[in-house]
Amino acid sequence: MQTVQDAPALRAAIRGWRSKGQTVGFVPTMGNLHAGHQSLVKLARARTDRVVASVFVNPTQFGPNEDFERYPRTLLQDQTALTEQDCDLLFAPDVATLYPFGAEYSVSLHVPQITDMLEGAHRPGHFDGMATVVCKLFNLVQPDVAVFGQKDFQQLKVVERMVRDLSLPVMVMAAPTLRADDGLALSSRNQYLSAEERARAPLIHDTLLKMRELLGKGHAWRALEQVAAARLMRAGFVPDYTVIRRAEDLAEPAEGQRDGLIALIAARLGNTRLIDNLLFD
Ligand code: PAF
Repeated sequence: MQTVQDAPALRAAIRGWRSKGQTVGFVPTMGNLHAGHQSLVKLARARTDRVVASVFVNPTQFGPNEDFERYPRTLLQDQTALTEQDCDLLFAPDVATLYPFGAEYSVSLHVPQITDMLEGAHRPGHFDGMATVVCKLFNLVQPDVAVFGQKDFQQLKVVERMVRDLSLPVMVMAAPTLRADDGLALSSRNQYLSAEERARAPLIHDTLLKMRELLGKGHAWRALEQVAAARLMRAGFVPDYTVIRRAEDLAEPAEGQRDGLIALIAARLGNTRLIDNLLFD
């Protein structure tokens, strides 16, 4: 696997593949790769002739009190993990490559409506920074297919909407969430948890399952949101939201709606903020 840091080297490699008629898949990441990321690369690998992954801890999607500084940077391990998945090229740019005028003076994309709620409401500016960097990366890599994890479901929806609204020629693919044996969704942030918190963390997935079960038994979705919040609070979590939404656009469902729903939870456990979701079939 080749690792490149600058745009001309990236473009030269991709031009070479394109000249042979090869298709390109893309997996954008912030590094500190785990099995969940590897499954995204695997999905891209199955769909396209060549696979590019990026590792870039994007400053514009972190709020002032978030974990930008302490976000784990593990490029050597990431290179090994990507090589194992047969990734062709790792793009690992520095801030000046993606933000030539400085991160604070960058063009900024705002995807309206879907970013006002949930993560967008609790992390102001997060989706503007995320959409901006993903658009920049798409412009550089120009992939046929880009793979995003369903764990960050709202992110996936924001990217889908940006791609459609800006007519970007890329197909966005969703990859299922990978979980530990006890149900905890894999995330780079899990390593912030103490051993005691790690043992409690699977309650988030368990609560999502409970929400699905109770909805199936005829409970109203609004009441289940309260039930879920109370359940997590009793176990020492501080929930930001525990909601049931329409999967298609994350809007509130109609009373009595049963189809096309998703439950989403964000909750703090100690100093760590965890998110997860469950699509109801
Ligand atoms: O999901 C992530 O890791 C990031 O939000 C992404 C898509 C790589 C953009 O920085």
